[in-house]
Amino acid sequence: PMAPVHCFSVIDSTNQYLLERVSRLQSGESCLAECQTAGRGRRGKPWVSPFGCQLILSMYWRLEQGMAAAMGLSLAVGVAVVEALESLGYPGVELKWPNDLYYQGRKLAGILVEMSGSAGASCHLVIGIGLNLAMPERQGEKIDQAWSELRHVQPELVDRNQLAARVLQHLQQAMVTFEQSGLGSFVDNWNRLDYFAGQPVKLLMGDQVIRGIARGIDDRGALRLETDEGIKFYLGGEISLRRG
Ligand code: BTN
Repeated sequence: PMAPVHCFSVIDSTNQYLLERVSRLQSGESCLAECQTAGRGRRGKPWVSPFGCQLILSMYWRLEQGMAAAMGLSLAVGVAVVEALESLGYPGVELKWPNDLYYQGRKLAGILVEMSGSAGASCHLVIGIGLNLAMPERQGEKIDQAWSELRHVQPELVDRNQLAARVLQHLQQAMVTFEQSGLGSFVDNWNRLDYFAGQPVKLLMGDQVIRGIARGIDDRGALRLETDEGIKFYLGGEISLRRG
C-alpha cells in the first residue's frame, strides 16, 4: 500500500516536518507543500520557495545500512528524479555532482538529504526536493545562482499532481533498489546524465582549489577527477564544483 502523503499549503520546511516525526513514520511517507517559509538548502543556505512556483516535497526513509550509505543515496535520488522527468516527456535534464539537477547549464532543482539520529544499526533519512516549475521574475532575483525552471524544458507543463505522483513513485522505487543493491545500479545512469562529463572543472575545498577533467563518479559516489597527478577521487563533504 502507498504510504501517507501529508499535504500543506504553507509550511516552514517539508524536510523539517518529517524530521520532527521520524519515530512515527513509515518508509515512503512524504510531505508536499505549495510554499515554505523556512526552506532549507545545502550548506546551511536558505531555499527560496515561493507559493505555487515549485514542486516542494520530502520523503522519509529508514535506511537499514546506516549513515555511511547516505552519500551514495543522494546521488541515486538525483537519477530517480531525472528519470521521473524523462518519463513525463522532459528531456535534457542533467546532474551536477553531488546532487543538483541542471538544465542547459542552470540549476533546475536541488536535493537535500538530512539525517536524524540512528535507530540501532539503521538511520532516519529525509530526502527533500525543490524543483522550479515556473518562477516569477521578481522571485528569481532572490536566487544566488543561474537557475532554470521546468517550463523552459517544455513550455506545456504536465499537471502538477501527476508530476508529484510520478516523482514520489520513482523516488520510492529508487530507495527500494538502493537498499537492495546500493549505488551500483545507478552509477551508469548517473554518468550518462553527468553535466560536467569530460569538462575542465575546479573543486573548491576550503582554501584549496583542485583542477582537472571531470570523469563521472565511481561505485561509492566519489567524484573522479583527472588531474596532472593522475586520477583522483573525492567524496562528499563541503566540496563545491565549478566549471574550470
Ligand atoms: C540545495 O541547496 O540545492 C537543496 C535544496 C533543497 C530544497 C528542498 S525543498 C523541499 C525540502 N524542504 C526543505 O526545506 N528543503 C528541501
